[in-house]
Amino acid sequence: MTAGISPNALRPAGVEVWWARLGAARDAFVEDLDPVERGRLAAYLRDEDKARFLLGVTITRRVLGARFSLLPARVGLDRTCSECGKPHGKVRADGVELSVTHSGEFVGVAFSDRPVGLDVEKVDPGIDVDGVARVALTVEEARELERHDGIAKARVFTAYWTRKEAVLKATGEGLRGELRGPVPAGIQVQELEVGADHRAALAVVSGELPVVRVEDATHLLS
Ligand SMILES: CC(C)(COP(=O)(O)OP(=O)(O)OC[C@H]1O[C@@H](n2cnc3c(N)ncnc32)[C@H](O)[C@@H]1OP(=O)(O)O)[C@@H](O)C(=O)NCCC(=O)NCCS
Ligand SMILES: [Zn+2]
Repeated sequence: MTAGISPNALRPAGVEVWWARLGAARDAFVEDLDPVERGRLAAYLRDEDKARFLLGVTITRRVLGARFSLLPARVGLDRTCSECGKPHGKVRADGVELSVTHSGEFVGVAFSDRPVGLDVEKVDPGIDVDGVARVALTVEEARELERHDGIAKARVFTAYWTRKEAVLKATGEGLRGELRGPVPAGIQVQELEVGADHRAALAVVSGELPVVRVEDATHLLS
């Protein structure tokens, strides 16, 4: 092995992506939440937002519980925001890199040995694509977008958008990061298939393409 390079850097990154549908949420899942998570849950006004948050937490706790032989409620999660200290930041746990996303019908959680970002967005047919494109897309992306119309255009834009968000979520920068530049070196981004109404992307901080396994969370949640 080359001196100074960690064994991790010599293997392709491994990523597990777990998807659930909004309808999989159950009230009983609240039992495994810690007090901070219960506070977050209670603060959401809309039932759909409660369900999305609850599913993200439950998938995270159940997958890590199985992996580390712990009860889901005993998995230690930290959501401290690096900006303000409130518990609304990127989820962290010992020994694994994580990313949570939710939009429309989907909730997803990515688990990896490298920093990872997952983003899903419901395609909004009414979105002002041209307005957002001016601030968010590269010249090449804007040119490609012009080849499309209507819902197809909204889909192409949303695909670009999720790729950018996935990158910013992998680096932990969030939307304060640069949206219009090219993908930084050392980050692998790919689209994930989630049907016609949504777009999703995965970014991993890695020099080579990751090995990605996609899992349906239905059994995990039943
Ligand atoms: C993080 C962010 C990219 C999320 O995008 P979104 O499309 O609205 O929502 P998603 O459902 O895809 O992602 C939400 C998840 O991202 C995670 N997250 C929060 N902040 C994050 C960050 N800075 N980097 C990576 N992930 C983050 C959380 O796990 C959150 O889910 P949860 O609260 O249910 O656990 C966006 O909200 C953002 O940029 N936020 C940070 C802005 C900021 O600077 N905040 C400081 C506030 S003091
Ligand atoms: Zn904050």
